[in-house]
Amino acid sequence: MSLLLDEIAIATARLAQAGVESPRTDAEVIAAWLHGVPRGELHLVPDAGFDPRFWDDIARREAREPLQHITGVAYFRYLELAVRPGVFVPRPETEVMTGWAIEQLAAMDVAEPVVADLGTGSGAIALAIAQEVPRARVHAVEADPLAARWAERNIAATAAAAPHTAGRVSLHAGDFATALTDLNGQVDLVVSNPPYIPDGAWVPPEVGEYDPATALWGGPDGMHAVRAVAATAARLLRPGGLVAVEHGAQQGAAVYWVFAESSGWRSTRNHADLAGRDRFVTAARP
Ligand SMILES: C[S@@+](CC[C@H](N)C(=O)[O-])C[C@H]1O[C@@H](n2cnc3c(N)ncnc32)[C@H](O)[C@@H]1O
Repeated sequence: MSLLLDEIAIATARLAQAGVESPRTDAEVIAAWLHGVPRGELHLVPDAGFDPRFWDDIARREAREPLQHITGVAYFRYLELAVRPGVFVPRPETEVMTGWAIEQLAAMDVAEPVVADLGTGSGAIALAIAQEVPRARVHAVEADPLAARWAERNIAATAAAAPHTAGRVSLHAGDFATALTDLNGQVDLVVSNPPYIPDGAWVPPEVGEYDPATALWGGPDGMHAVRAVAATAARLLRPGGLVAVEHGAQQGAAVYWVFAESSGWRSTRNHADLAGRDRFVTAARP
C-alpha cells in the first residue's frame, strides 16, 4: 500500500459516514484530480508526493459540496464542462435524453437542422448536440445571468477543443417563453431539461444547497416550467418537428398528458433513464 491509498481508505470511510452515495469513487476522483494522475494510477503516486490539501477537499465533500464543484469539472457525454456554484451540474440521466435528440437529428433529412435548448445551464445539451451532430445549428436559451456566463465559457472552451462546434451554438439570454420569436415555426427539434421539482420536495444537500434555485423548483406540482416548454415548443417547431422534455421519475403520466394528442401533439412517448425510471417525454408536431 502507498500513503495515498491509505488516505483514500480513511477518506472513503469518512465520506460514507457523511452519507455520500459513492464514497470510494469520490475519494479517488478527488485524489486523482488533485495529484494530476488518472484514477488507475493512484497507486503510483510516491509517498513524498502526497498533497495534504487532499483533506481540505475531502472535508468539503464530507459537508456534501458536490464533487463537480470541488474539481470544477463535469463530464457530459464526450464533453468536459466547467461548473461552479451558480450553474446546475449536468446529470447522467440527461445524457440519455440528449442521446435520443442526437439520434433523431442524425436521421433527419434536413441539411442543417435547427435546434433549441430551453434552459441550457452549463450548455451541456446544446454543446453535446453541436459536437455530435456537426451540421446542427443550436440555439441555447438561459434566463439566469450567472448560469449564462458558464454557458458562454463552455461554448468558447468547446469551440477551442472541438473547432467544428465553433459558431454553431448561439446563446440567448432571457426567458424561453418569449425567446427566439424570429425562429417561430422553423425549429426542427426542441429539447429541454427544465426545473421540475415540486416546491418544498426533499432533495439531497448537494442539490438543495448548491444547485441554483432557478434550476430546481417547478411550482407546487413541479410542472410550471414543463407547461411553459410545451407552449414554447408549439410556437417554435415546424410541422413534423420534435420535442424532448426531461421530468422527475414520478411525473411521466403528467408530462405525457401535457404533450397528448388532445393538446395538439402526435407520437407522444415516455422514455426511461439508465436506471429504468420514467425520465423524459418526446412528441411531434402534426
Ligand atoms: C435543470 S437546469 C438544466 C440545465 C442544463 N440544460 C442541463 O441539463 O444540465 C434548468 C435550467 O433552466 C434555466 N431556466 C429555468 N427557467 C427558465 C426560463 N423560463 N427561461 C430560460 N431558462 C430557464 C435555469 O436557470 C437552469 O439553468
